[in-house]
Parts: sequence; C-alpha cells; structure tokens
Amino acid sequence: MSNYQDRWKTVAVEVNNGIAWVVLNRPEKRNAMSPTLNREMIDVLQTLELDHDAEVVVLTGAGESWTAGMDLKEYFRETDGQPEIVQERMRRDACDWQWKLLRFYNKPTIAMVNGWCFGGAFTPLVACDLAVAADEAIFGLSEINWGIPPGNLVSKAVADTMGHRAALHYIMTGDPFNGVEATQMGLVNKSVPRAQLRDEVIKLAEKLKEKNPVVLRYAKNGFKRCRELTWEQNEDYLYAKLDQCIGRDQEKGRAEGLKQFLDDKTLKPGLQSYKRNK
Ligand code: COA
Repeated sequence: MSNYQDRWKTVAVEVNNGIAWVVLNRPEKRNAMSPTLNREMIDVLQTLELDHDAEVVVLTGAGESWTAGMDLKEYFRETDGQPEIVQERMRRDACDWQWKLLRFYNKPTIAMVNGWCFGGAFTPLVACDLAVAADEAIFGLSEINWGIPPGNLVSKAVADTMGHRAALHYIMTGDPFNGVEATQMGLVNKSVPRAQLRDEVIKLAEKLKEKNPVVLRYAKNGFKRCRELTWEQNEDYLYAKLDQCIGRDQEKGRAEGLKQFLDDKTLKPGLQSYKRNK
C-alpha cells in the first residue's frame, strides 16, 4: 500500500482502493500554484505513474478552492526581478505538469473541481481527461481583471473545450460562472451538488478501473493527438497506434472481448465491458 504522507509540502497524496487523490494543499492561499507547488506536482505525477496501486488519478483542492490559478505573489511579483533564465525555468515547470504530463498521462485523470477555479487553473483542468465539478464551484478567466491576457496555455485549453463565443465572452469580461454553466459550455463533463461530488467521482473512477488500462491510454491519447492532425495523417497515426496498442496489450483484451462476444456469448459490448482476469 503506497504511503505518501508528508512527502510533499504543497500537495497531499493518498492512494485508496486504486484511486490516487492528489490534493493541491495550500488552502490558506486558495491552492494558488506557486513555483514550489509546480515543482512538486511534476514529482507527484511522475511518482504516481509508476505506482501500481494508483489506477486512476483525481486532481482536487483542499478546502473551498480547486485552485485560484497561478500564485500572483510567488509566481509573478516575486520573480519579476529574477534573471530571465530563472523565469524560463519557472514557466517550464508550470507547463511540464499543468499540461505536458497531465495531457498525455499514462493513467486516466479526473479533475474534481470542488471550488474556486481561476485563470491558470484552466490549463490543468482541461489537461485532465475528465472533469466533474460542484454545482457551486466558481470558475473565471480572471486575468483581464488583474491586467494580463490569459497566460500559460489557458487560451488553447478553452479553445479546445468551450465554444468560440463563450470563450471570448469570459476571456474579455472576466465574468465568473458556476459548475452548472461550466457543464453547459462543455468545460466539464458534469456537475453535482458539492455534497455528492466525491461519491460521483468515485463512481466514475470505478468505471474506469474496470477497463483495460493499456487500451484506455491509447484511446484517450489517440483522441487528443488526432485533434491536431489532418484526416490523412490521422489515418496513418491512428491505425499505427491501434496496432501498437494490440501489440503492447499483455492481457490481450481484443482477443478476449471477441471471444466473450462471439464464442462464449457472455458479452454485449454495446452495453458493457468484457470481463477482465485482473
Ligand atoms: N495568488 C496568490 N495568492 C492568492 C491567490 C492567487 N491566485 N488567490 C488567493 N490568494 C491568497 C490571498 O492573497 C490571501 O492571502 P493572505 O491571507 O495572505 O492575504 C488568501 O489567498 C485568501 O484570499 P482571499 O482573497 O482573502 O480569499 P476569498 O475566499 O475571499 O476569495 C478568491 C477567494 C479566489 C475569489 C480570491 O482570492 C481571488 O480572486 N484570487 C485570485 C484569483 C485569480 O485571479 N487567479 C488567476 C491567477 S492566473
């Protein structure tokens, strides 16, 4: 059983029944993402990727906030006078976990948005595969309200999820919106009352745990990459990945699924997953 108690200063991690709960843990600063938190999150994600007990990763926040975005004091003001190379490194650390690691993570990821979600928070939010929010959570592209255009890859993240008009409205006005509205815009998969949020996420994680993890990885990463490619490139790329997936899948899911449907007649793949021998 994995034990990460007190291993990181700004992130708390608990692995329980196959679910890794990654909790941004600076509630007194509304879990704002400081340079320390960014560095620690790289280590957290790299560590959990090799932890067999962690089958699904849930990213959430301590207290009343998911994350209030980049730390305006530690990430911006305090580094304003730093050498250019230090600032580059800080940006790289932020990018490394907020989208590079998360976006093509080897395990399924769920953003569990429990509360405030502002500005820079949209990058890890969209980089997670799925997102479930509290109805009461408050989101905002607040950069315009404190004097910059959206930073990091926030604009790209909203362009990939929210509609054109909604994205521009919130980028240009900085108006806040709640979890119900975030669902309507396609920014999160669904929202539920805050009291039900954890149970809802556990239900979703349990469903993902039933799936073949190798196939799941190729399926989600293939989808994400295919958005950037042409139809012709996708034909080559997606078929190559399909074949690679079948080759690398040690549990031979495809053969098992076909057997359970065609020979044993125990499976209706339209309605359920094939039974795995875990
Ligand atoms: N960066 C740095 N510190 C932050 C922060 C951020 N993004 N968000 C909150 N904090 C800090 C506050 O400075 C305050 O610190 P202090 O107690 O040392 O003064 C503490 O967290 C609590 O913040 P406060 O504003 O009093 O909490 P609140 O519950 O009344 O309001 C928010 C919560 C999230 C609405 C408000 O803090 C806020 O607007 N934060 C900035 C959000 C933002 O624009 N983020 C985009 C960054 S890219």
